Amino acid sequence: MTIERIHLHSFRNYEEAVFCPSDAVNLIYGNNGSGKTNILEAIHYCALGRSHRTGYDREVIRKNERVGVCSLSVRSNHGMNQIKITLTPFGIKKKNVEINGKCISRMSDLMGKLRCVMFSPEDILIIKEGPSLRRRYLDMFISQINTAYFIELQKYNRLINQRNALLKQIRKNEKEQTILLEIMEEQIVQSQAVLIPIRMRYIEKIRENVRFLYQKISQKSNEILDIQYCGPLIQYERISDDLRKKYESSREHDIINGVTSVGIHRDDIEINLNNHLIRTYGSQGQIRTAALCMKMSQISIMESEVGEKPVLLLDDVLSELDYLRRKFLLESISGVQTFITCTDLEDYDKKVAFHPVLVKNQDGIAEIENSIELDNKTVEDPLFL
Ligand SMILES: Nc1ncnc2c1ncn2[C@@H]1O[C@H](COP(=O)(O)OP(=O)(O)OP(=O)(O)O)[C@@H](O)[C@H]1O
Ligand SMILES: [Mg+2]
Repeated sequence: MTIERIHLHSFRNYEEAVFCPSDAVNLIYGNNGSGKTNILEAIHYCALGRSHRTGYDREVIRKNERVGVCSLSVRSNHGMNQIKITLTPFGIKKKNVEINGKCISRMSDLMGKLRCVMFSPEDILIIKEGPSLRRRYLDMFISQINTAYFIELQKYNRLINQRNALLKQIRKNEKEQTILLEIMEEQIVQSQAVLIPIRMRYIEKIRENVRFLYQKISQKSNEILDIQYCGPLIQYERISDDLRKKYESSREHDIINGVTSVGIHRDDIEINLNNHLIRTYGSQGQIRTAALCMKMSQISIMESEVGEKPVLLLDDVLSELDYLRRKFLLESISGVQTFITCTDLEDYDKKVAFHPVLVKNQDGIAEIENSIELDNKTVEDPLFL
């Protein structure tokens, strides 16, 4: 996939900016706080309809403005698509997504129009923090290649919220609702019978990839990175039956607590290095490498599943990596349209061709200095330093 044009309007510290990236490596450089990550955030919005760093749309709208827009044109195997996200958190409809000028009513229609893999220093939290970040990592990845999964996951989350609300009502002695609870549980079970096998399938694919990638990066054949699915304790040959029993046996306990204790909203991925939990026993460098492998594995899986490479967004990662890891990363991005942010061009491997894009912050307004002309879209010779 190739993004050909990006347009920002009242988005973060951009008033109005248009930028035509190169189809290879775009090196977005500028001082701290100039607006580099904001460009990656806009791309992420157009891919997944949301920011990678905040759940609040109003934060990304330029201060003192009421409407923020990010839009882009992306070329894929299926042709060109124009994606436009208009954020109006103070209006009635808070987020409007248009594809080729037509408003879409379901976010699932956006999935897959632009696929991206974002890697930033915070990704080590996927390894180090609690399970919710690992679930998000998995869900955002699968949703981009499997729209049915995204739709089913939204349905599942809705059902869990409804069950939680109902549990609280029953707790207040509204016992006649128990039949409704059973009906709801059956829907939750059916939904998981769809979701669990998909999660397991993709975890297995990631597992195969990270094992190979980790050995390649670390150049140590005796270091084995392994990941395991930790879902509800059930036999996967009889998902529905086992889950039904679990809901029945946890019902009383759940009514007391007012929350659903069983289900894939509690899933985790266990990440081990040589059979030991990496977040407990791994060094900082091993954890960082594992996080890099988890993200890089998505590129080849996406390519093999949908037949084209995603766009790669690398936020501030070069300076964090040692020479070997940086070399590996830069070698593996050939043929992938990439956006790399850095503060200093010196961070960059001098052997790889890149297209430099300077971001300047002028009195709180970001400006992009880019050598690709808007009207004449021929890309200048990439810089060989
Ligand atoms: N809603 C907003 N309205 C206006 N400006 C904003 C808004 N949100 C963030 N900013 C500004 O955007 C800038 C930060 O942008 P960004 O995170 O892209 O910087 P960066 O170039 O990636 O910096 P670093 O190198 O430190 O990562 C800050 O100057 C901040 O004040
Ligand atoms: Mg940044």
